Amino acid sequence: MQIVILKDATEVARYGADLFVAQLKKQPASTLGLATGSTPVALYQNLIEKNQQGDISFSQVTSFNLDEYLGLDGSHPQSYRFFMNEQLFDHIDIAKERTHVPPGDAQDPIAACQEYEARILAAGGIDIQLLGIGRNGHIGFNEPSSGLTSRTRVKTLTKATIDDNARFFSEDEYQPHLSITMGIGTILDAKKVVLLATGENKAAAIKATVEGPLTASCPASALQMHRDAVIVIDEAAASEL
Ligand code: GLP
Repeated sequence: MQIVILKDATEVARYGADLFVAQLKKQPASTLGLATGSTPVALYQNLIEKNQQGDISFSQVTSFNLDEYLGLDGSHPQSYRFFMNEQLFDHIDIAKERTHVPPGDAQDPIAACQEYEARILAAGGIDIQLLGIGRNGHIGFNEPSSGLTSRTRVKTLTKATIDDNARFFSEDEYQPHLSITMGIGTILDAKKVVLLATGENKAAAIKATVEGPLTASCPASALQMHRDAVIVIDEAAASEL
């Protein structure tokens, strides 16, 4: 595990974006693993600027997102598909048909999970996977107690995660309690993993990830087993190290 501690969220986004830029320059037909949440937004902004300046191209890229709410289709403003279109895909030269987000409206979610895994395999696996982290150490929607070798599956969200994400939903709006998420095993199969975290509210999760025991109680600690995992954090998120 490589730990990179930078001054603030702006530097974290720039550093993370540079890792993706380097990957795309080395291998224009890369398979990218992408993430939602507020943390990656500034990184996506960096990539959009670089794409619009002609510095990098996504025209040969395939992408797979980590997770999606089960029960929301891609046109729902709180769905992660909608988020990805708004925050990244609509502003870059990527072919939409090569962008994948787990289908939140699947008729048969269990079959959809197996199909998602098969598609990742068919694309040759993920070259570089972006991750955020939940306050309880979750990655994707792999909540504490998730199996460390788990694959893409349906997961129930914990109360902590539902509460943390309630800010995105209006009071009378339906907020899903289920998700489809890549498993920890799926994430560990990526050739490179880049986890970003900023702010003091992530400091305890980062301490458990980096210094704690390898345990399903902190799903991100599984990254200790990855041979090329980079943890990019600001001073606030590093404050308990
Ligand atoms: C959600 C997502 C995670 C993300 C986490 C933290 O639960 N499923 O992938 O890492 O939120 O989000 P934020 O970056 O907004 O703190």
